[in-house]
Amino acid sequence: MDQKNYLWWQTGIIYQVYPRSFQDSNGDGVGDLKGILQRLDYMQWLGITAIWISPIYPSPMADFGYDISDYTGIHPLFGTMDDFDELLQQAHKRNMKVILDLVPNHTSHQHPWFLESRSSKTNPKRDWYIWKDPLPDGTEPNNWLSVFGGSAWEWDETTGQYYYHAFLKEQPDLNWRNPEVQQAMLNAMHFWLDKGVDGFRVDVMWHMIKDEQFRNNPANPEYQEHMATYEKLLPVYSTDQPEVHDIVRKMRRVLNSYEERMMIGEIYLPIHKLITYYGTDGSGAHLPFNFLLLAVPWDAQYIASAIAEYEGALPKNAWPNWVLGNHDQPRITSRVGLQQAKVAAILLMTLRGTPTIYYGDEIGMTDVPIPFDEVQDPQGLNMPDKNLSRDPERTPMQWDDGEYAGFSKVKPWLRLSAIYKRRNVETEKKDPYSMLCFYKQLIELRQKEPSFITGNYRPIHADKQSLAFIRQAPNEKAFLVVLNLSHRPCYLNIQHIKIEGKVIFSTSPELHGSAITERMQLSGDEGIIVELSNNIL
Ligand code: GLC
Repeated sequence: MDQKNYLWWQTGIIYQVYPRSFQDSNGDGVGDLKGILQRLDYMQWLGITAIWISPIYPSPMADFGYDISDYTGIHPLFGTMDDFDELLQQAHKRNMKVILDLVPNHTSHQHPWFLESRSSKTNPKRDWYIWKDPLPDGTEPNNWLSVFGGSAWEWDETTGQYYYHAFLKEQPDLNWRNPEVQQAMLNAMHFWLDKGVDGFRVDVMWHMIKDEQFRNNPANPEYQEHMATYEKLLPVYSTDQPEVHDIVRKMRRVLNSYEERMMIGEIYLPIHKLITYYGTDGSGAHLPFNFLLLAVPWDAQYIASAIAEYEGALPKNAWPNWVLGNHDQPRITSRVGLQQAKVAAILLMTLRGTPTIYYGDEIGMTDVPIPFDEVQDPQGLNMPDKNLSRDPERTPMQWDDGEYAGFSKVKPWLRLSAIYKRRNVETEKKDPYSMLCFYKQLIELRQKEPSFITGNYRPIHADKQSLAFIRQAPNEKAFLVVLNLSHRPCYLNIQHIKIEGKVIFSTSPELHGSAITERMQLSGDEGIIVELSNNIL
């Protein structure tokens, strides 16, 4: 199809690889770069465009790689720089792009910058991090909390000051008000872009700059006991400060100095704030991650209005995007069930904007219950009574029914799903009704029909059970998508628009080819895509 005026990150599909859990090639129970290389053909077969790889840099692994001790190296656990170069080259050979995770908000406490910074108050790198005197009574400089539990301030005995860490104490926050810090991180971006990396997913983008006066955060009136302790306060002074956009603009300028590179921002904020990260006149992130589908209750009316709110809020020329899962959130299959996860997949692939698939969601992987004594995620370990561990959604990819699911030759670092013998890539490839075959066909359909990629979004119905919308690009076929988000049959009677068409894709292949008009009924957990024969534009 002719999509010359659109870029790869607009027409394509992003696939997130959590490297520890994707494929182990050297028999140590942890996934690695050579493992990803071995599975490139699989990803190509699936039809995805770009791989986003969670951090692969040297790291003490306090937060599984999100605590970086060298921004321009590769952790030996994952391989070597040669392995990385090979992976990049092989991905490009297959016309696939590679997006790296960039973690600019904080380093590891073992990063040489921090070791220097904490060595003395007069060290030239002291100001690279956020150091503050205690209050007169010796307590923390303010009430800011760590996302992973407890105070965000850690006392340093040697120099008699506190340092700020939004996450673990092993992840001190950089001081982005310092121009040297800015330059060091922009240099790291150049290092990877010069190699040919196609873009970055920027970790916790909205955290990067804090209130200059370090004012106390206010109490959250909606806090409830089951929530993470971090939610006791509203982080109005510790996150999403106006100056963050200056930083993002500088990062964007680096990307703009190369051809066709892109930047995703990880941002958990309400829509009206999220969209500011596109920047004025496209000077910000190409894709501020849109996590609406992770946050909104799985209810047709809520989802329809969230889509409308997002569509309505997008600035001119801003490209939308949608996410159904990542390494920090419960898997979609566990949230809504296997049948409904197919409906969710149709939604992800037919909404307007770039979809991101989390590895394993395409085979219907579920959250795996991890016994107490096997929990590894610091978020789970620090708040054991709140069921916040992210281990369940990070378990090894299920490739086949062999020992250790084809992921490794030895016991993996995190336990496998108990049902991997029947839910895995090889088994599902042979079953035309499997989640995997479903996903593959859906991806194929999306990628061959311009209406799904560049067409406009026109909502036509939403009630308690179902929602429906039309996608159409000028002079292209029009498609009606109807999704039953409930388990019970639903009935629609669209009155304001004439509908004539045939089902071309569905959760029930039996429906393919059936005629559809304004009055329709769907089974529970059913979704259909209808090619319209009448012109509705
Ligand atoms: C992001 C990452 C998460 C990590 C945190 C701190 O939210 O996605 O996995 O723990 O940042 O770096």
